[in-house]
Amino acid sequence: MLPEKIKNRGTPVAETETDKPLLFSPMTIGGVTLKNRVVISPMCQYSAHDGLANDWHNVHLGQYALGGSALVFCEAAAVEERGRITHGDLGIWSADHAAALKPVVSFLKAHGASPGMQIAHAGRKASMQRPWQGHGPLDDSDAARGEVAWDIVAPSAQPVNDTSLMPHDLSVAEIQSVQQAFADAAGYTDEAGFEVLEIHSAHGYLSHTFLSPMSNHRNDAYGGDRAGRMRFTLETVEKVRAVWPAHKPLFVRISSVDGVDGGWDLDDSVVLTDEMKSRGVDVVDCSSGGIAGMATTTRDPLPLGFRLPLSDRIRRDNDIATMTHGLIVHAEQAEEILQTDQADLIGIAREALYNPYWARHAAQTLGADPDFADWPDQYGWWLTRREAHLKSIGVR
Ligand SMILES: Cc1cc2nc3c(=O)[nH]c(=O)nc-3n(C[C@H](O)[C@H](O)[C@H](O)COP(=O)(O)O)c2cc1C
Repeated sequence: MLPEKIKNRGTPVAETETDKPLLFSPMTIGGVTLKNRVVISPMCQYSAHDGLANDWHNVHLGQYALGGSALVFCEAAAVEERGRITHGDLGIWSADHAAALKPVVSFLKAHGASPGMQIAHAGRKASMQRPWQGHGPLDDSDAARGEVAWDIVAPSAQPVNDTSLMPHDLSVAEIQSVQQAFADAAGYTDEAGFEVLEIHSAHGYLSHTFLSPMSNHRNDAYGGDRAGRMRFTLETVEKVRAVWPAHKPLFVRISSVDGVDGGWDLDDSVVLTDEMKSRGVDVVDCSSGGIAGMATTTRDPLPLGFRLPLSDRIRRDNDIATMTHGLIVHAEQAEEILQTDQADLIGIAREALYNPYWARHAAQTLGADPDFADWPDQYGWWLTRREAHLKSIGVR
């Protein structure tokens, strides 16, 4: 049963300031106000040691606060050691992991961004090589470098594909222990000072593999019909919500569709969202794919904003805030998504690797910050004068 304090904390409030584009209007979710709608989507860096954040994470994530994004998500952080995708994954399974993230949190807050954490368990996609080291299961060549493979887990003993490692199927006691690890991770995330938490239930990782009939072949309470397959995710949401402070927003990222015949589909996601909403989830982050390969592996080339129909349907049918992401490239494109009510938050990933200042440039394009007033003083003072000079010599 949902505690009263969670039930009554209100639905997200989007502010519309007539003189501002929606992309640069604030939004309040629970007790957290995001200064605009640009979110840095979680992006694994595979650069941690023993799951601990380091200077790479500080600079990588810090640049997005300077770049003007309202909410900056840390990459997927594993709730237990065997839940990492690679040896380089971030972890959040101890107080030491929380402590290592505090400098990131404090820099983001100091520069106007809300720090977000994504907690995850890779399930049968764990024990892998980094993308640039082969992207396959860890093997002898990795062991020679000191990166040894480990035993992996899933709802059922079925590998991702013919070349993947075989997971063992979790017992009910093991399931409960993994769920407790998610709840503990929520506690460590709060301890580190994060303001927003996202549960990763997408892309073929553990929670998604419980949901999908492609990967869950159990015949106990955690499998079978849709209600059984949803049990792991919903119980995890309940356990996390019980630990995560009521005023702090909770997001869940789902693969809204598997995109394969007989897989999890959008109707399933609408039902799941309804159940998650009644358990205190504020925002559904609408992703797709990944059950049998990479999340972006499809038969056809993906168009700009390819996940929008998913966010649009879930938002309308469930009356819940959604985040969309997936080839959102242009400021005008992002603004139109919000103007046409297809999502509430705009996730930017690869575009932010290309241009960490995407949000600030979008504000210029949409006329929300023509005079560099929102930039850090250390930059804005110079850029205003540079702009005036460029105009005076006819370059602008
Ligand atoms: C380098 C990289 C790492 C990623 N790591 C994660 C992750 O940790 N968790 C997650 O849910 N999605 C992850 N994704 C997916 C992105 O969050 C995003 O959904 C996807 O890239 C589509 O958005 P884009 O077209 O703006 O890149 C990653 C993507 C990239 C490019």
